[in-house]
Amino acid sequence: MKCRRCKAPAEVALPSHNTAFCRDCFALFFSGQVERAIRKHEMIAPGERVLVALSGGKDSLGLMLELARQGYDVAGLHVDLGIPGSSDAARAKVQGFCDKHGLHLRVVELAKEGLAIPDVKKYVKRPVCSACGKIKRHWFNRVALEDGYQVLATGHNLDDEVARLFANTLRWDAGYLSDQGPCLPAESGFARKIKPLYRLSEFETACHAFLNGIDIHSAPCPYSGGASFTHHKHLWADLEYHSPGSKIAFYDGFLKRGRPAFATQERESGGGELAPCERCGSPTSTGVCSVCRLAITVAERRAADPERQAGRAGIQTDQPSILEKD
Ligand code: AMP
Ligand code: FES
Ligand code: ZN
Repeated sequence: MKCRRCKAPAEVALPSHNTAFCRDCFALFFSGQVERAIRKHEMIAPGERVLVALSGGKDSLGLMLELARQGYDVAGLHVDLGIPGSSDAARAKVQGFCDKHGLHLRVVELAKEGLAIPDVKKYVKRPVCSACGKIKRHWFNRVALEDGYQVLATGHNLDDEVARLFANTLRWDAGYLSDQGPCLPAESGFARKIKPLYRLSEFETACHAFLNGIDIHSAPCPYSGGASFTHHKHLWADLEYHSPGSKIAFYDGFLKRGRPAFATQERESGGGELAPCERCGSPTSTGVCSVCRLAITVAERRAADPERQAGRAGIQTDQPSILEKD
């Protein structure tokens, strides 16, 4: 097979686009898709500072490299979840990547914030992945605002977005369908959130990471039981195989025709008044924000945990909790 652009031997076949590219032309294709996403959705204005949330995976590290190469003013944020045997490895990959490319990185350690994910799992009665997602999003926004970034970028790819949209559609979840998209505008207390990889499939971001020699953290989270929406992703892989281009057509069609219909409904239903959280300053409609309430619950239950009290004499794992800090 030959590269469509330059006729050299192709290295990457892309049936969704009915094409194939050599290494250099694939890099141009990848950059073009990112540029197109940014331009079409006005994701980054000239002079804006972009905080890129880096998990250590192929998507977020590939996105960071691409944005830096395109000349954007980028810095990384890694949230260290404090999961033994997993978080250290992810953090090391992110740190190594940023060191190699001379990119600024800020790390938030959840253990220091009284929210190590193993403690959240142990002491909070809700699915740990949903609490973890909420905590991560809280810190993404908080660091963006505290450190003066106008834009927060994540590495969600087309497969992530299609799987999420499909799940929301199966439930006809009007709230989510009204605001799912690759660019959520800034509101008071919230940075603009962008997903510049939304036009690129998981396969394409994996090829990009591989061809650029990015050293990634590929082990799944030990608590997640695999990638999210796995079953939906399999369904879509089948659909895409039999009908190449289905994913991007479904997602683009939603952005053009589906979302506007749901957006009207959501505006009519309205939302609560936002004010700064009494503890951390993040916008909330409930006095103390939900993440601070999680931290309080964890601190209280840890303090009352008989297992910890028994082990306290011998084990020194205490970090100052959010309650102790006040
Ligand atoms: P996931 O929900 O794990 O598929 O991650 C989606 C995106 O969220 C990634 O591409 C990253 O941009 C960001 N992300 C996930 N986990 C972290 C983390 N621990 N620290 C920083 N960013 C993260
Ligand atoms: Fe958050 Fe696994 S529980 S990434
Ligand atoms: Zn708070």
